[in-house]
Amino acid sequence: MSNGSLSAKISSAPSDPIFGIVEAFRADPRPEKINLAAGVYMEEDGVTPILASVREAERRLLANSTTKLYKPIGGDPALVKLLRALIFREPGAPFGALPAIANEGRIEVLHTPGGTGAVRLAVELVKRLRPNAEIWVSDPTWPNHTQIADAVGVPHRSHPWISADARALDLDAVLQSINAAKPGDAFIFHGACHNPTGIDPTAAQWRVIAGAVAARGILPILDFAYQGLGDGLVEDAASLRAFLAAGCEILVAASASKNFALYDERVGALAIVAEDKEAAAAILTHAKVAIRAAWSNPPGHGGEIVAEILGDDALRVQWEGEVTAMRERINGNRRAFVVALASEGAGDFSHLLTGRGMFSLLGLDDAQLKRLRDEQAIYLVARGRINFAGLSAVKIPIVAKAVAALLR
Ligand code: LMR
Repeated sequence: MSNGSLSAKISSAPSDPIFGIVEAFRADPRPEKINLAAGVYMEEDGVTPILASVREAERRLLANSTTKLYKPIGGDPALVKLLRALIFREPGAPFGALPAIANEGRIEVLHTPGGTGAVRLAVELVKRLRPNAEIWVSDPTWPNHTQIADAVGVPHRSHPWISADARALDLDAVLQSINAAKPGDAFIFHGACHNPTGIDPTAAQWRVIAGAVAARGILPILDFAYQGLGDGLVEDAASLRAFLAAGCEILVAASASKNFALYDERVGALAIVAEDKEAAAAILTHAKVAIRAAWSNPPGHGGEIVAEILGDDALRVQWEGEVTAMRERINGNRRAFVVALASEGAGDFSHLLTGRGMFSLLGLDDAQLKRLRDEQAIYLVARGRINFAGLSAVKIPIVAKAVAALLR
């Protein structure tokens, strides 16, 4: 081939640290295989269901939709208003009541393709509006954070998140990193259900972090992909409320993939909290320019489902119950797995009980993970990130036994 060829001297790129494992799982012919890799909700039978509220919304859409016209660049105004109500709902407030800063015009929300699109847009805004900024991510973090920063061309650094024994938050180390960062840098925080550790700050610790972030002039980017799967839809926004109370400008990357189980519809949102109404409106224009050059305007169907659910009180309440049921099943699996590990003599994993959301780290190395895959057909992500939603009454003893055998 000539030197100008696309294929000349090309070597393969590495597979994705999460979806690459899912591909390997799919290709595995062993019927007993267990997928605890990608962060998706599953029922007892391993199926990721379509929520009943989603089915009802789709039925209505099928009956009533009249067009597949392009959405506005930032998404349907009705949808983004509802997503704003969901993200910024305050404890005890009715759905739709807005915090004062919303009424001041300081919040703009755009519909993005999934939470990944929202993080991508946030990072694009950092590049455009704070060109000298570095982006700090926790070690460990969701691998796509650094992949996105690399793709956009924003330098990134990591800061410690957990203690050396990986059992708790290392708040002092987080604060030291905030104080070591340049004013103007951005930090990506996991708004709830830290991925991959499951270790979240308490509300009081969030207030300390937010105070340090505000004092240092850091831009917090909240990756809020798991709203509702930690302690509750409103409870999980304690992180956001801490940054709001500290007076920060904030970018919030939200997702309907997990809490609406709308993984393949790609519904997410970027919420921009600016220092005043004029700044919010100006940042919105930059976001729209970035979107137009990337995906032009968001996909329609998934957003229409979310708008149908959030816009109808009865359907929204039904959906909130479904979120609660998913959360409780995940937490039940988490507890049962810790008990099973103990009864297999795997050691003390009681710290997993304080974890939030789908994930925790079992602290397994690559060789141990390979053995789990090769010998037991059990698939986990790096460092032994386990997705508790993939467990079931049948799978819990099998996985606990296999993990215990590795650790003995
Ligand atoms: C995960 O962390 O497994 C999920 O967020 C899926 C993804 O996009 O990586």
